[in-house]
Amino acid sequence: MRLITLVENATGSPNVQSRMVKKLGTPSKGFWAEQGFSMMVENETGQKVLVDTGATEAVISNNLKVVGLEPKDFSAVFITHGHYDHVGGLVPFIDAGVPIYTHPRTFQGKRYSTGGESKTDISAPPQVMAALARAKLNLTSASVELVPGIRTSGEIPRTTDFEHALNFLRDEGDRTVEDTIIEEQAVYLVTKRGLVIITGCSHAGIVNIVTHAKKSTGSKVHLVIGGFHLGGASQDRIRKTMDQLKNLGVDRIAPLHCTGFEAMKNFSDRFVGFELMPAGSEMELY
Ligand SMILES: [Fe+2]
Ligand SMILES: [Fe+2]
Repeated sequence: MRLITLVENATGSPNVQSRMVKKLGTPSKGFWAEQGFSMMVENETGQKVLVDTGATEAVISNNLKVVGLEPKDFSAVFITHGHYDHVGGLVPFIDAGVPIYTHPRTFQGKRYSTGGESKTDISAPPQVMAALARAKLNLTSASVELVPGIRTSGEIPRTTDFEHALNFLRDEGDRTVEDTIIEEQAVYLVTKRGLVIITGCSHAGIVNIVTHAKKSTGSKVHLVIGGFHLGGASQDRIRKTMDQLKNLGVDRIAPLHCTGFEAMKNFSDRFVGFELMPAGSEMELY
């Protein structure tokens, strides 16, 4: 099993290596960064799945070229949720005829963020919405196997009392209502050391995601990679999150994208088994 972070808010220097993470790219052929997330996952037989597509076609296209891949090389694209920074680069995959898997509510209604002063439209861009008509779309809220060894979580129950998705709205008919981003799902990779979870933004709550993964698969969770969405979270929530991830037996974490500076600082200081995985990071899992 192999992972490459294709799109992330930062890119890494090829000179900085950890025991687990190798940095790809060269000074002349580099990864581009943007506010977004996309990760390639490859199973034991070389089948590739893309989890999210970043925010723009330009960035995912450049970064795919750096690793020598094209959209047609993927067996499936899985979209974790409907925000622009996860779906913005989808059109080239639709045009290549790659099957797209996501929750039925991912592309429903305009979506907004109300963090900060103003209401910002964070929906899928119009060219993505237009291309959906010709996409091989598989819409399901149930857990499905994308390729052997790689499956989706299905809809994630919200059980903790401290992981509310705040500051999001969605249009429903002619009303604008609070958005819990109910569609957000994660991806599970089965490895010998346990489950590896890939999460887009964790609007469902990272503790809820890990709890559901353990309960529904009966497996130990080895590693969690992705956006933990703790930007602006209180110290209390960050501490509770870290304690509960430890209590749930998670060995390692690679928080990225929307995790937020304060949470990254706390995790890097106090969570044994912390990895940085900006765009261009490659990890082999056995
Ligand atoms: Fe995001
Ligand atoms: Fe999001």
